[in-house]
Amino acid sequence: MYPPRCMTLALIFGIRVLADDSQHPITNQEVLTSSDCHNACTELVTVLGEDKAFYQTLPEDFASSYFCNRQREVTPACVIRPANPQDVSLAMKTIGKHRCSFAIKSGGHGMFEGTSNIEGGITIDLVRLDGIELSEDGETASVGPGNRWGKVYEVLEERGRVVVGGRVSNVGVGGFLLGGGISFLGRKYGWASDNVRNYELVLANGSISNVNYKSHPDLYWALRGGAGNFGVVTRFDLEAYPLTPVWGGMSLYTLTDIRTRCASLNIARPFSLSYSYLLRQVSQLIPRIAALLGRSTTSTQIIKAFEEMIVKERTDETYLQYFFSLSYFPTPDLILASVMHVREKPDGNPPALADPRLIGGKPTYSTSSIRSLRSMVEELDPYNIPGFRYLYHEITFRFNATVFQQIFDFHLEEIDKVKDLQGMFPVIVMQPISEISRRGNEKNGGNPFGFSDSDGPLCALLACPQWDRAEDDEAVHAYVARFVDKTMALLEKEGLLHRWVYPNYANKMQDVFSGYGEQNRGKLREIQGTYDTEGVFAKLSKGYFKV
Ligand SMILES: Cc1cc2nc3c(=O)[nH]c(=O)nc-3n(C[C@H](O)[C@H](O)[C@H](O)COP(=O)(O)OP(=O)(O)OC[C@H]3O[C@@H](n4cnc5c(N)ncnc54)[C@H](O)[C@@H]3O)c2cc1C
Ligand SMILES: *[C@@H]1O[C@H](CO)[C@@H](O)[C@H](O)[C@H]1NC(C)=O
Ligand SMILES: *[C@@H]1O[C@H](CO)[C@@H](O)[C@H](O)[C@H]1NC(C)=O
Repeated sequence: MYPPRCMTLALIFGIRVLADDSQHPITNQEVLTSSDCHNACTELVTVLGEDKAFYQTLPEDFASSYFCNRQREVTPACVIRPANPQDVSLAMKTIGKHRCSFAIKSGGHGMFEGTSNIEGGITIDLVRLDGIELSEDGETASVGPGNRWGKVYEVLEERGRVVVGGRVSNVGVGGFLLGGGISFLGRKYGWASDNVRNYELVLANGSISNVNYKSHPDLYWALRGGAGNFGVVTRFDLEAYPLTPVWGGMSLYTLTDIRTRCASLNIARPFSLSYSYLLRQVSQLIPRIAALLGRSTTSTQIIKAFEEMIVKERTDETYLQYFFSLSYFPTPDLILASVMHVREKPDGNPPALADPRLIGGKPTYSTSSIRSLRSMVEELDPYNIPGFRYLYHEITFRFNATVFQQIFDFHLEEIDKVKDLQGMFPVIVMQPISEISRRGNEKNGGNPFGFSDSDGPLCALLACPQWDRAEDDEAVHAYVARFVDKTMALLEKEGLLHRWVYPNYANKMQDVFSGYGEQNRGKLREIQGTYDTEGVFAKLSKGYFKV
């Protein structure tokens, strides 16, 4: 639908007049769309120069710098690549003046269209803010949001230090740190966001501030989980810790109970002498051979072992992180469980989740060894390839093995309906929300997540399918919606569902900030109003979760 030309002109005119009235709060009608950002983009080219502001022709490497194709397909009116906080400040002033909608991009790993890119608006690409500096005493690492974690680890490793960051090398620093951050060190240090000492922040009016517990306790609290709702962070000062070798890796298990589970769920295996039928027959041999060799387990045993760890919150202080995933490989019709674990002390003892006594067998394949933390990150990299379509959806609940087994059955039922879509790769990942992560709200005035003592051992379930074609988007969304509906209903019935939603894993449809509790949401809104009186972030930055 194309608006009549005169209406567009009237809009531009209207906004010109309003833009002069700087005290006037922004209303929805005034938010410019599409080509109406022309004036803002033209001014950005003048103010920042052609090497930092790209209008008409976007930088060649721009689209491919996003992880998910759903973000690559979004086309902004212009892209700016500021080189210092002063550039960001000038940009915020221009954006506020012209009231053109904008998005902020750090590593571009946000999963849905509009997370860090904006159709017809201005995308602030922070890629050039890529400084990494360790303080003289080695206690603080100052990291620009243009960095990806792999580079940060590499630089700090040379001085024997490490920070609490991502588990995949090319995940960006910015989004990860503003939405929590589950790391390989989560059971020792909690959320990555609880390990930020200071933020250099450009506010809506362009002023540049250092925000920490002493200087702005309210804003500092808000930034520890409040996402990009308060300003543009141009530098994170992170607590740095000594780097030591760890004991860890991935153990992969073939599951022998899937065929019987599918049969009991009435998931039919149609008989036809097709290639795919033959492949499916062959695929049944793999678990059988693995079982013969004692190198397999069942979904039930994996789930029980996880319960053992999470419910008892294993008091083993050396445990740094663990999680498991259940992945379906359409070719050759196989479900594999993988367990990732990392322990501080390389003492050689098997981790509980990969302990043959708990799991009932040896892993089909394992990389557990004494190694560097960076090699753990590098191990996950090949499993996270950019350039496909993805969807993330997160559900938080109190873990219970019996109930989770039913959830896994829901997943088996639902993937059966979509498994033939091109490039379909459905995965669910289960991660503990460690005790220290829940208690993170005690450190330096806390965070807005709103966990309490009575929440108990929580876990985050992430459903994260990958697929190839845009025309299958709807089918995949529907599959996830059905799985989520059944799961939520069951968890609600069992009294296990928790209101919290992890922002970094959330689906576009989820109301992340309502999960923080009404009181914390109210506080976040108040803080936003204090530091952004005109509502620039509330109204013009539209694509991601709003407080
Ligand atoms: C392959 C892969 C692996 C992952 N692994 C992990 C993991 O191990 N642990 C985990 O917790 N999460 C993980 N995630 C999720 C990840 O934390 C989120 O996708 C996160 O948003 C990525 O940050 P980014 O900077 O790359 O994303 P972007 O898309 O650039 O940004 C995400 C959001 O943050 C805002 N933002 C970014 N930088 C700034 C800034 N400087 N100032 C203001 N706002 C800003 C953006 O506007 C956007 O709304 C993973 C994701 C992927 C795709
Ligand atoms: C898990 O849930 C089931 C079904 O509601 C219940 O019978 C069982 O006691 C629960 N287990 C634990 C450890 O709470
Ligand atoms: C910008 O906003 C901040 C926070 O409201 C305020 O302290 C500061 O004085 C403002 N700066 C200007 C130049 O208006």
